[in-house]
Order: sequence, then C-alpha cells, then structure tokens
Amino acid sequence: MTSLRLKSDSPLNNPQFIFGVATSSFQIEGAREARLETIWDKFCEGEGNISDGSNGDIACEHIKLWHQDVKMIAELGVDAYRFSVAWGRVLNQDGSINELGLKFYVTLLDKLNELNIKAFVTLYHWDLPQYLEDQGGWLNRETALAFANYVDVVSRAFSGRVHSYATLNEPWCSAYLGYETGIHAPGLKSKQFGKQAAHHLLLAHGLAMQVLEKNSPNSKNGIVLNFSPCYAASTSEQDITAAGLADDHFNHWYIRPLLEGRYPDLIDDMPDAHKPIIEPGDLSVICHPVDYIGVNYYSRAIYQHCDVDGFKLKPPHDVPLTDMGWEIYPDGLYKLLTDLNDRYQLPEVMITENGAAMKDKLLEGKVDDQDRVDYIQTHLAAIEQAIASGVDVRGYFAWSLMDNFEWAEGYKKRFGIVYVDYNTQIRTLKQSAIAYRNMLLGRTHK
Ligand code: FCB
Repeated sequence: MTSLRLKSDSPLNNPQFIFGVATSSFQIEGAREARLETIWDKFCEGEGNISDGSNGDIACEHIKLWHQDVKMIAELGVDAYRFSVAWGRVLNQDGSINELGLKFYVTLLDKLNELNIKAFVTLYHWDLPQYLEDQGGWLNRETALAFANYVDVVSRAFSGRVHSYATLNEPWCSAYLGYETGIHAPGLKSKQFGKQAAHHLLLAHGLAMQVLEKNSPNSKNGIVLNFSPCYAASTSEQDITAAGLADDHFNHWYIRPLLEGRYPDLIDDMPDAHKPIIEPGDLSVICHPVDYIGVNYYSRAIYQHCDVDGFKLKPPHDVPLTDMGWEIYPDGLYKLLTDLNDRYQLPEVMITENGAAMKDKLLEGKVDDQDRVDYIQTHLAAIEQAIASGVDVRGYFAWSLMDNFEWAEGYKKRFGIVYVDYNTQIRTLKQSAIAYRNMLLGRTHK
C-alpha cells in the first residue's frame, strides 16, 4: 500500500506542527526575460557545467502557471509553502524596483494568505544577479550590504504577509560548491574563495536579520542550513579525526558563528592563505539571535583520512541509493538533530528540505514512487524520534513540490512529489503526493 502514516499520538500530529512543500525561484519560475541575468544563467552557458546542457529560461513556467500551482498546493492540504524570491526579479540594476516582479510575489502572498497557507519566504536561494558577480560576488563585502538593501525593499513591500523568512538557503552550497570546488555557479575554485564567500554570506545574513527585526518583527526570522552528518569510515583514530575535521569545515563552520559568534577552532590552524578576511565586529553581526534554524537533510557523508587535506569522502558502497547516488540513511537525520541539540543552545528547528530524486516513470497517468513514499515515511519517523529525545522540531517541508531544474544535474533528476512533463508543462500528482495529501488531511485535528 502506497501510504504515509501518522499515529494519532505522534508529535507530528500536533496541530502546531507545520507540514509544507518547498521550491525555489530559479528552479521553477522561468520567465527569464522579465528579470536580470543571474550567476546561474551565465553558468548554464558554460560548456559541460549542466549535465543535460539545460538552463532556467523556462523551467516549470511557474510565473505563468502560478495560479494552478497554488491551487495544487492547497489541494495537498499543506499548512505552509516555502518558496524563494529572485533578487533580480524585484530590483533592477540601478537599484530601482521592478514593479511587475515585486507585484508577482505580493499577489502570490495574498493568495496564500487567502487560502490560509503560511508563507515561508527564502530571500536568497542562489540566484545572485550577474552584475554583482561581475563586481566580485560573494568575494566582495559590498554584496552583503547590497543584500541587506534588497531585503529592506522586499520586507517592506511584503509587510505582514509572511509567516517566516529565511535569509539564505544553504550558504555552504553557495560558498563551497560555488567558489571552492566550482561545480555550482559562479564556478570558481579556490580554498580561500570558499571561506571568504562563506564569511560574506554569513555577514549578509546578520545584516538582513537586523533589517527583518525592524521591518518584520512578527514573522519567524532565521536561516536555512544544509547538513550531512559526518561519519568515520572505520574505528581508526585517523578516520575519526578525519570525520571531525570535515564536520568542522562543512557543518560547524556555519552554525557555530551563527549561534556562538565564533568559527570552529580549526580556523587558528589553517594556513593564512586559506583564511577569510574578517573585520572587527563581523561575528557579533553574524550571531544576531534567530527565531529558528532551518535544517535541510538528504543524506550522511562518510570520511576517511587523507594526507593532503586530512579528510576525504568515501563514496557509498552497497547501500540503498537515490537517483542522485546519495545513500538513503534516515538514522543520519536523528543523529544530526540530537547531536546539534547536545552541542548548541538550539532555537526552534524546522526541517526545511527533505526528499529524494528517484527514477520516476509516468505510466498511464500515474507515477508509482513507492521508494519516495518510503523515504519520506522513514525520515518522518527519525524526526519523531528526535522530538522524543528532546529536539524542538516544529515543521517539515518536502523537497520538492514538483520536479524542477536540479542545478548542475539539469532536469534529469526528479525531486518532485508532483511529476512535471516539460514538453506540455502538465503536472501529475505522483503516488507520494497523494500519500502526503492523505496523511495531511487525515490528521486528527484537521
Ligand atoms: C538542496 C537545494 C535545493 C535542491 C535540493 C535537492 O541543496 O537547496 O534547491 O536542489 O538540494
């Protein structure tokens, strides 16, 4: 039976627990001509950057089809919809407002409010305007100030319509994948760039929090981070040290400054050439109190010792994988949440993304994605367990509402609970969407 179950005494059945679906601007909107060029438009033009050679020009045509998309969201019975605002759709290069673009989001927010769906707005989901990249992008401190200005414009215009803001989505991806390994836009490759971009992103977050506190004091304001809990490949001391080092570089590098105003201690041992430039006062801006931390979880990572960097990723072997090649490992979510809770004074936690790309087939109008249903069910169980162990988890968002542009993988990887036929733009609820809907509508308080 393709179904998702919530026990009546589950903490997820509490009327306060929020269930939603998530998307992001570049991945679904299309309507390229009505906004500024972004770093992803440019990156998509680079030979070999996107595995199917595609781009975000059309995507899911959400700007055109948003009415039907919102209707579909409402029919799923969710409490909330998480989406992002495209910076270059609301501001022009000269700093003036793109009225049509801004109106799109205001109208969308009005519709969500009318339908009693809480709006979770992400202010930056990777689509930096290209003209800012031409001035150094996230390597330039000024970008953090430009971001705060953009957030000021948007949060004034949205006044009172937003339930929750996230300043940034996954700064690790923007910084590490974009500026250190170059597999995401803008495709730069330097260790110092990675850490410098991370610092400016965190600074942008802190400055934006100050703006939100002023312009939107009644919404829940925070940030969304991605985490892959780091496991050691063996019980050897060397591998355990390797996993700890990776954890500091990839996970604590972001959450520690946000919550404690300090980078992990390894910053003191790093070669000077890799260290970010930090100005006095930056860390106190960065650790502005947040109402919540958004946690995106897909999989764990296993590390082994390596003489070059101290740690090296060990690819999963002989374990269940998604179509991304990511190990299906719900226990990692439990461990992540409880470890973070032990280590930090955590604010409220929202699971802002969780889901899986699977080899979906549309057959006679149906997509039988039992594998995705199982993925969601086991991860919900991990969250229940984490709550039972004392972690304050307040919500869960399935990534994603519908299939979309999966960054460097293009349209080949399908994360949606709704199937998108990119030739016709017809949306079809997969079995996972039907199961999600039945679970949500079957909640005892509904
Ligand atoms: C996350 C991104 C999201 C999507 C999922 C699969 O890293 O935030 O846009 O691509 O991964």
